[in-house]
Amino acid sequence: MRVFNVCEATIREVREEDLDQVIEINLISLKEHYPVQFWRDHLQLWGKIFLVAEVDSRIVGYVMTRIERGFSFLRRFLRKLGHVVSIAVHPNYRRRGIGSALMVEVLRRMKDLYNVDEAYLEVRVSNIPAIKLYEKLGFKIVKVIKHYYADGEDAYLMAREL
Ligand code: ACO
Ligand code: ZN
Repeated sequence: MRVFNVCEATIREVREEDLDQVIEINLISLKEHYPVQFWRDHLQLWGKIFLVAEVDSRIVGYVMTRIERGFSFLRRFLRKLGHVVSIAVHPNYRRRGIGSALMVEVLRRMKDLYNVDEAYLEVRVSNIPAIKLYEKLGFKIVKVIKHYYADGEDAYLMAREL
């Protein structure tokens, strides 16, 4: 397994015993939460594109993704898509490049391991930090999905070629 460091954090594949900490970071960072089995399913099916950032043996961030076959958001045909389902960094560890490092590595893996040509995600229209991060990585807003979230907020669908 390929492991590397960004600042003091190590980026590596998630393990079953990390899931409690991953879920905890999700709970404090986002309003979108999932049953434990949803996290387990992603670990089992797409464990090589479900990454964590670790500092001093503690999990401080994660990115959970999946592979889908669907209609491209950028071209007019069906293709394999890499879907960034959820990413979060613990509030005490933000703005140190950890979110970027998680994204760069997971996008590289989508391409290298699954031959994916396009990645996409949804993000709250008010989530400026995340939108800026994705824009820096080359994602473009493709459309607005009205009332995407349970509280009624709209989402931007953002996508990029890999
Ligand atoms: N304000 C403005 N721009 C920001 C901010 C901010 N608070 N935070 C990050 N950015 C942008 C900047 O351009 C930054 O580059 P810079 O620091 O050189 O200016 C760039 O993003 C990269 O920042 P990182 O340090 O790599 O990102 P970080 O480790 O802080 O993680 C994340 C970013 C994951 C969005 C974090 O803020 C977080 O966990 N937020 C809460 C959870 C969340 O919103 N997740 C995304 C939901 S959408 C989805 O999951 C598909
Ligand atoms: Zn999604």
